Amino acid sequence: MDHDHLVTTKQLSRADVERVLDRAAEIDADPAAFAQRHDDAVLGLLFFEPSTRTKMSFETAIKRLGGDAVDMGSVDSSSVKKGESLADTVRVIEGYADALVLRHPLEGSAKMASEYVDVPILNAGDGAGHHPTQTLLDLYTIRETAGLDDLTVGIMGDLKYGRTVHSLATALTNFDAHQHFVAPDSLKLPRSVRYDLHEAGASVREHTELEEILPSLDVLYVTRIQRERFPDENEYQKVAGQYRIDESTLAAASDDLTVMHPLPRVDEIAPSVDDTAAANYFQQAHNGVPVRMALLDLLLEDQQ
Ligand code: NCD
Repeated sequence: MDHDHLVTTKQLSRADVERVLDRAAEIDADPAAFAQRHDDAVLGLLFFEPSTRTKMSFETAIKRLGGDAVDMGSVDSSSVKKGESLADTVRVIEGYADALVLRHPLEGSAKMASEYVDVPILNAGDGAGHHPTQTLLDLYTIRETAGLDDLTVGIMGDLKYGRTVHSLATALTNFDAHQHFVAPDSLKLPRSVRYDLHEAGASVREHTELEEILPSLDVLYVTRIQRERFPDENEYQKVAGQYRIDESTLAAASDDLTVMHPLPRVDEIAPSVDDTAAANYFQQAHNGVPVRMALLDLLLEDQQ
């Protein structure tokens, strides 16, 4: 990678992505070979927003490499509550850890934090901005199921506020992927992401109905409407529950369709989909461990 910090997927070339995914595959094949790789490493976890998968899989990843994690804990129990700035918080915790994982409600926060510290900052979600490590595990999952060549992917739901969407769509421009975006008009891709996709020469189409393109898809990536980012609850209510798939939706899909979701889901995928061959979202979440192990292994290896 160009730099140690991982702030957006715009930084990642195809070779960078493949390096991480190949290392993750090696780890999956022989986890024991990596068990003591970084036994003196400490990872700092700074989560200013709720998290289950991202935080726990990073913690599992560093522990499976032989290292350990220190966790700032909740905002309410940290010095942030006393008015400490993000810049000060990261400068302090940089003294305790070899890399910092940061999730924060403000877009641009990971970039800002990276300007204050020398240890790598891994952006675990900056508001409605980016979520690059989620994308790495998404790409790993796609590579294992549909493959990353000649891929047709549908990305549905909250394309406006969904940071996993922004990161995934941007990273897919490195591959031979046709991207179809499905959302109500009010939740279409933001201008900045649209610009990045255009600049990268991506093959992109936008739709309001899934039916139009479902049969052509290899992967359907469903996302949650990001209720917490809506400035107005009434606006949320207008779109809540509009895009929902169930077992009957899949009747029109290819037999090889892979359904993905970064999770947590609310009601956008009915539980009846979970037992179908298409459902891949729990495996996707599990892939967070080998992929984050791979990323940490590569970063810490480079630092030595
Ligand atoms: C996502 C997030 O936090 O952006 N969750 C995750 O990290 N797997 C998606 C979401 O919250 O909808």
